[in-house]
Amino acid sequence: MFGASTHTPFIIIKKSITSLPLPFLFITMPTAAFRVFRFFMLVFIIIVKTSSSSLSESLLRSTIHLRNHTAISEFRLVNRRHLINCPGNNPFLQVNISSVDGHTTLSDDEYVTVNITGVLLPSTGDWVAMISPSHSNVKTCIENAIKYEQTGDFSSLPLLCHYPVKAQYVSNDPDYLNCSKKECKKYEGRKCVKTTCGASLSFHVINIRTDIEFVLFGGGFQTPCILKRSLPVAFANPNKPLYGHISSTDSTGTSMRLTWVSGDEKPQQVQYGNGQKASSSVSTFSQADMCTSSLLESPAIDFGWHDPGYIHSAVMTGLNPSSTYSYKYGSDSVGWSDEVTLRTPPAGGSNELTFLAYGDMGKAPLDSSVEHYIQPGSVSVTKAMADEVSSGSIDSIFHIGDISYATGFLVEWDFFLNLISPLASQVSYMTAIGNHERDYVDSGSVYITPDSGGECGVPYETYFPMPTAAQDKPWYSIEQGSVHFTVISTEHNWSVNSEQYEWMNKDMAAVDRTTTPWLIFAGHRPMYTSSPGLPILPSVDRDFVDAVEPLLLANKVDLALFGHVHNYERTCAVYQQECKAMPTKDRNGVDTYNNANYSAPVHAVIGMAGFTLDSFSTNDNSWSLCRISQFGYIRAHATKEELIVEFIDAESRKVDDSFRITRYS
Ligand SMILES: [Fe+2]
Repeated sequence: MFGASTHTPFIIIKKSITSLPLPFLFITMPTAAFRVFRFFMLVFIIIVKTSSSSLSESLLRSTIHLRNHTAISEFRLVNRRHLINCPGNNPFLQVNISSVDGHTTLSDDEYVTVNITGVLLPSTGDWVAMISPSHSNVKTCIENAIKYEQTGDFSSLPLLCHYPVKAQYVSNDPDYLNCSKKECKKYEGRKCVKTTCGASLSFHVINIRTDIEFVLFGGGFQTPCILKRSLPVAFANPNKPLYGHISSTDSTGTSMRLTWVSGDEKPQQVQYGNGQKASSSVSTFSQADMCTSSLLESPAIDFGWHDPGYIHSAVMTGLNPSSTYSYKYGSDSVGWSDEVTLRTPPAGGSNELTFLAYGDMGKAPLDSSVEHYIQPGSVSVTKAMADEVSSGSIDSIFHIGDISYATGFLVEWDFFLNLISPLASQVSYMTAIGNHERDYVDSGSVYITPDSGGECGVPYETYFPMPTAAQDKPWYSIEQGSVHFTVISTEHNWSVNSEQYEWMNKDMAAVDRTTTPWLIFAGHRPMYTSSPGLPILPSVDRDFVDAVEPLLLANKVDLALFGHVHNYERTCAVYQQECKAMPTKDRNGVDTYNNANYSAPVHAVIGMAGFTLDSFSTNDNSWSLCRISQFGYIRAHATKEELIVEFIDAESRKVDDSFRITRYS
């Protein structure tokens, strides 16, 4: 339906409707036709306003893409609903919060119980939302649905101005609908004449600095109305330094950057080692820093916004590579973090490195809530990797794009940072940017899609400062042990002779293969995958492959790692879709590529860390040697002689694929 033939009808639509005033068209169409019409109108307006045909194609694709990938949960459209108080008055209704420790304020990470009492008639449509800050406008909002069509919703109802952090149906409590938790509210003599029902829901709450209220709605997510609001509850210390994560600043292994979040803007400190300390530089971003477009106004700038507080960053220097240090961060006035132990990575040029790598992880709620964007595998994958990190055997981590999937719903960055804390606070957490961090209409991204929800890389770069040359040029290289990593942005211009193209070529050409014999190239969008995507939204951009693949061959890249497609796949040594060499089995039956006689890069797609998995097509690509659609990550061990890569299934913790690249002559 949306194939190449769609272009001509759009031109016809353009000619036939532009003479009519749009409001007239909107009010005269029946509802279903109106929705379809408005969808096409959005695409049409975008097409009319853009001059290049490739731009139009991208927007058309992205809008359909967003329908598929952002509108999958009815909860995700709740911001569309015109909220009113429900009809009727129930004087018994109460929504109260009880935290685990009985305090009146919230701790940094806890499960709170929301008690709903006094319900006269329990309904499957009753639900509770966690809303923050409590003074958010959750009643009505000016109707302007067309500007939010990108979320995939075609409702003509007014918008809710602020999106809930998360929500649960009250029926999650099995005692609710059958009224097992009865209370008598009125007696006549000894006889109860007014019985009410109740329920209890558990919400996982982390310190997001702004106070919280829980709101009981009726009418389901489709036609919600407000039944009752709880009193607001605040965090005990909204300035608490939290979510510290570390990254390498260079290839020496002697300095580590710590980045954390606090509600306080005054500089804080990291104290580490034996009495060393470093002050933080402080940054933040505001709604004005989010990007938007007159074509597509973004969630980030509007109903998805949540104040990020202040992001502190300090560099610990004077460390030794491959060593452990304890540290804490904060200040006497706002408090201190727990003491954490970090491990510095090995210096570039040293012999050994063990690292984990994956893409497309995101986060998922730890309670039974729904939230804006859930990546179901993220929790089990994080747990499996945290166990590895705590064993002390891991030197560093590479997360190559599609990081949190906050996509314009900013509070979800806090939940993501909380989820990865056990990993990222202990070993170098290096990242690459993906479409869900960067892409937006009119923002300079290669792909003109709304995938970042208007973030346009600003939260990503603030939370994950990498050793890049400049703002919004998120490419860099780093050496750890025997490996040189060249990390690129597939979302920024990579075309021949572009700045990034010149950089990646120069960077790879300059690698001293006697000190770092292994050259690993990493970016988000793949060059090879047997999950082709939709005809209108292919997984592989041939232009990207045509421009950049020759550099991989010319610079003798050993291994190319990509995400974006949500599964694991490994190729032969491949170039221009032809196997230039096949691995042979070693004595343990492990596929072994001999790069003493280099032929071409081995590609691996590793986007299986959290997002709902993709299946494989049945086509028999000769270059595809291993396909696994399971949640997991890769663990790689490099010496100067060999690079061993294993795919770990997060559930079973078993190695489901392994391969070696050797340099034995
Ligand atoms: Fe992606």
